[in-house]
Amino acid sequence: MPKVTYIEADGTEHQADVAIGDSIMQGAINKMIPGIEGDCGGLCACGTCHIYVSEQWATKCSAPDELEEGILEFAFGVDQRSRLSCQIAMSESLEGLVVHLPDRQY
Ligand code: FES
Repeated sequence: MPKVTYIEADGTEHQADVAIGDSIMQGAINKMIPGIEGDCGGLCACGTCHIYVSEQWATKCSAPDELEEGILEFAFGVDQRSRLSCQIAMSESLEGLVVHLPDRQY
C-alpha cells in the first residue's frame, strides 16, 4: 500500500500505509496518529481533519470543491496550503505523500 508521512507541528513524524481510495484522514485515524480528529467521519462537515499540503503535492491531489473551501473557513490556522484530509483520496500518484498537521484542530 502507498505510504503517507504525517508530520506534527512539533516535527514528530508518523508513517501510515493508506489503501488506494481511502482518504488521507482515514489513514491517520486507522494508525491513531495524533493531530487529526476527523469528528464527522469524513463527511466534510467538521473541519477537524485539517492538514497542510505543499505545492509540490497539491498538484497531484484533486482540487478542493466549494464545500471543502467553505468548511476550511472555520478551521484553525488556515493558509494557502490548507486542505481537509478527508477530501483527498489516496491514489498511486500520491505514493510518498508528506502532509503537515496544524498545532491544533480547534
Ligand atoms: S473529517 Fe470532518 S471535515 Fe474531514
